[in-house]
Amino acid sequence: MAERIGSVTSDVSRSDFLRACRGEATDRVPVWFMRQAGRSLPEYRAVREGVAMLDSCFRTDLVVEITMQPVRRYGVDAAIFFSDIVVPLKAIGVDLDIVPGTGPVVAEPFRDRAQLDALRGLEPDDVAPITAAASALVGELGDTPLIGFAGAPFTLASYLVEGGPSRDHRRTKQLMRSDPDLWHELAGRLARIAGDFLRLQVEAGASAVQLFDSWAGTLSLADYQELVAPHSRAVLEAVADLDVPRIHFGVGTGELLGAMGDVGADVVGVDWRVPLDDAVQRIGPDRSVQGNLDPTTLFAPADVVERQAARVIEAGRAARGHVFNLGHGVLPETDPDALARLVDFVHGYERD
Ligand code: CP3
Repeated sequence: MAERIGSVTSDVSRSDFLRACRGEATDRVPVWFMRQAGRSLPEYRAVREGVAMLDSCFRTDLVVEITMQPVRRYGVDAAIFFSDIVVPLKAIGVDLDIVPGTGPVVAEPFRDRAQLDALRGLEPDDVAPITAAASALVGELGDTPLIGFAGAPFTLASYLVEGGPSRDHRRTKQLMRSDPDLWHELAGRLARIAGDFLRLQVEAGASAVQLFDSWAGTLSLADYQELVAPHSRAVLEAVADLDVPRIHFGVGTGELLGAMGDVGADVVGVDWRVPLDDAVQRIGPDRSVQGNLDPTTLFAPADVVERQAARVIEAGRAARGHVFNLGHGVLPETDPDALARLVDFVHGYERD
């Protein structure tokens, strides 16, 4: 990595975040937050005014500015690239939008084989403004690593098949079980798109990747292993030669943690339901963990937040490496000052 991009990168490589991902000792527990850039920040709401979410993701200047906002404000140990899991689908021409307060909505939900043709491969030109933003960010960030990300095949497929957010993922599971061949073709195409998207971000300078399988927790372990794991493995395999840590995260995935580690992750993201020391038992000793303060804790008094955060840090010591995070994204109503205090608390925490 250092040879490829030069001396700046070697400082990034020694960052607490990358060290914890690799299971190396750190002086402080590194911390960043999923959705650290977003509606909780007044400066985010200001720059997004009058610009649709997906339009903002294709504007290099806005991607750079929004990605930097939480780094400037909080001094977090990593930046996460401002984008969305549906951006590569939009980039290849899938007709979809992100509706405020709802999430991704697809104009023509995926129903049959004829629609596979619309899911062509991702070409670098499709995402040129995005990779330009990643390159610019690496310069602005200096020693702070940039995390690239993609949506995992199951979570992406669930938006395509359901047409939007879903509570029970009924149609997606129906497709998996009634036409497994078509399911595997769909998931295989999504895996290639997600893998290519991650690769392009790393080639532009991202020094870690996170694969979001946010809704995988709706699946039984048996269904996950048979119908989903091979495709998520293919995504992580697509960046295996690039020597960047691979983080794999989902919500409500307590029963899947071992399997999610086994598809090629260096770090497993854990939501707030499973204490990190229990999670380590399920994942095994050869991976780091990321998480896992309940995002709603930030609405409690400061001393309660600190007690809960200390519990997370102590439980995280069971792992070979721990990256502090919330158990899911920052809620839009969160007070940014509460997050600032939390970063300071994690950084100042004395481990003996
Ligand atoms: O700071 C970061 O974490 C980086 C930015 C990021 C966004 N989306 C920006 C965003 C990331 C990593 C994502 C990933 C994403 N998008 C996931 C996986 C992570 C997770 O939350 O589990 C999923 C499932 C999506 C799909 C999606 N996009 C949802 C459910 C929503 C919320 C809809 C809403 O308005 O409540 C979005 C929109 C979205 N993505 C916003 C942001 C900042 C809010 C849009 C806005 O500000 O108008």
